[in-house]
Amino acid sequence: MDDEGINPSADDLTQPPKLMLVTPSHQYPLGTVMSLARRRMLLEYVRQNQCWIIEDDYDSEFRYGSRPLASLQGLDTSGQVIYVGSFGKTLFPGLRIGYIVVPEALAESFATASAELYREGQLLQQAMLAEFIAEGHFTSHICKMRTLYGQRRQTLLDAATQRYGDALPAMGGDAGLHLVMKLSEGSEDRLVASVALERNIVVRSLSGYYAEPARAPSGLLIGTHACRMKRSHRRSARWPMRSVRRRARCARVAAGRRKDSMRVRTSVRRSRLR
Ligand SMILES: Cc1ncc(COP(=O)(O)O)c(C=O)c1O
Repeated sequence: MDDEGINPSADDLTQPPKLMLVTPSHQYPLGTVMSLARRRMLLEYVRQNQCWIIEDDYDSEFRYGSRPLASLQGLDTSGQVIYVGSFGKTLFPGLRIGYIVVPEALAESFATASAELYREGQLLQQAMLAEFIAEGHFTSHICKMRTLYGQRRQTLLDAATQRYGDALPAMGGDAGLHLVMKLSEGSEDRLVASVALERNIVVRSLSGYYAEPARAPSGLLIGTHACRMKRSHRRSARWPMRSVRRRARCARVAAGRRKDSMRVRTSVRRSRLR
């Protein structure tokens, strides 16, 4: 890894893999955004060497400044990128719904695999989600949550700067729902994480993500979206959700469904009275 994302050595490239899994929008865990040049280089490499890429785009919806770069799947002209996304972060993890965009040549094999693996039970959630997207609520939800998460992230960064100055530089701060705070060289990030846990603060040690933790940089992975904000910040940040609910209500009224649901509720209340 370098500042432009995955950076395979010449040695790595002499033995082409069958499959590569990358997270170009926000490398996990470091948070690096893969540069356009590196994306093009990877695509050229897989084209020449006939291998596949899985592009895991797990939190690209949340960017707080820079404009998003084209996905590998969007840049791919040879049909070798399998694009994977999830609603786990944009909505909630318990929903357990994700999606895959596969190259045309793989569509049939994936349809067969899906038919073999798929267990019924999520149909209601899928139908609700489809309607949520079709009616435009998903898009407004993302816009509002981007503002809210951006404010929470900034709150955390401001608090860290206020308390520790430049001693805790943050990486990967421009996107996603986590960032990495680097600890000074030689400090034990696992120990810091376990002491934090004793105080009910869940952070992960960066070295825990390395194959050779002893040679890893020391740092902490911190979720930013659940950061508590001051009361004055909170009021301005809460309105987006209220607005989402209000818009959802308006959309239902416009579609004539709000009236129906009110009628159902009234008749339920009446039947209770009887
Ligand atoms: C690297 C990475 N990929 C994918 C996901 C999404 O996983 P799921 O949809 O199973 O929650 C996550 C969630 O945290 C992740 O960190």
